Amino acid sequence: MDKNWPIAVIDSGIGGATVLRELLKVMPDENYIYFGDSANAPYGTKSVEQVQALTVAMAEALIARGIKGMVIACNTATAAAAAGLRAAHPEIPIIGIEPAVKPAALAKENPTVLVMATPLTLKQEKFMTLLHRYTDVAQIIPLPCPGLAELIESGDFDSERVHEYLRDLFAPFNREKVDSIVLGCTHYPLVSKAILAEFGRDVPLFYGGEGTARQTRRRLEERGTRREGGQPGKVEILNSSDDPALIALTERILRFEE
Ligand code: DGL
Repeated sequence: MDKNWPIAVIDSGIGGATVLRELLKVMPDENYIYFGDSANAPYGTKSVEQVQALTVAMAEALIARGIKGMVIACNTATAAAAAGLRAAHPEIPIIGIEPAVKPAALAKENPTVLVMATPLTLKQEKFMTLLHRYTDVAQIIPLPCPGLAELIESGDFDSERVHEYLRDLFAPFNREKVDSIVLGCTHYPLVSKAILAEFGRDVPLFYGGEGTARQTRRRLEERGTRREGGQPGKVEILNSSDDPALIALTERILRFEE
């Protein structure tokens, strides 16, 4: 395996760029290939079988090009397909992302934590296991957000439609009782300002992107495949949709310009 080979970063669309920008912070000297499957987004309201098939097809196409690692920068796709891909490709470190329930649950004594994620992430066994691990120490409230990733995917980060969606989503909750919010979808950090504005309280937001980036670095170090040398790596951005606006949007996210 060549150290100069890229690390593939995949997502249902543009959201995984929030993970890639964390990877670039901890490993600017690596080469990356980002693939967003926007033509098939959203994944979060599809069946497990559909998401498995789409994720495996995307991953196999990138593996065939020659990559030294893969980050599944999508909570929904990780839960559906990471285990199968790892079993099929033990030669490649495959790192996934999951809702950051652990740090949120352990941040203070017996907190109440809202977990925003796609309906499919919250339905899968991987999330159930995570939930049960922390039910003794925290009150965890899963909050499915169907339709939110679509709004974000269309470049809508701060419109009245997004605010209205979030206003309705949070309406049933007593804000004073909630200690933190987990952003359990890689698209959601892009609307974190709108989330806090509509939630109406400045609660901590927990996100798995930083942890995933550090974990990826550890996995490459263990294998001795880090490309260290001071020179910045290259980032190639691909998308299954032929809409050029999606590439421009991905680049904007990488520059933290949302
Ligand atoms: N970005 C994906 C995640 O982290 C989901 C978005 C979608 O529904 O396609 O779960």
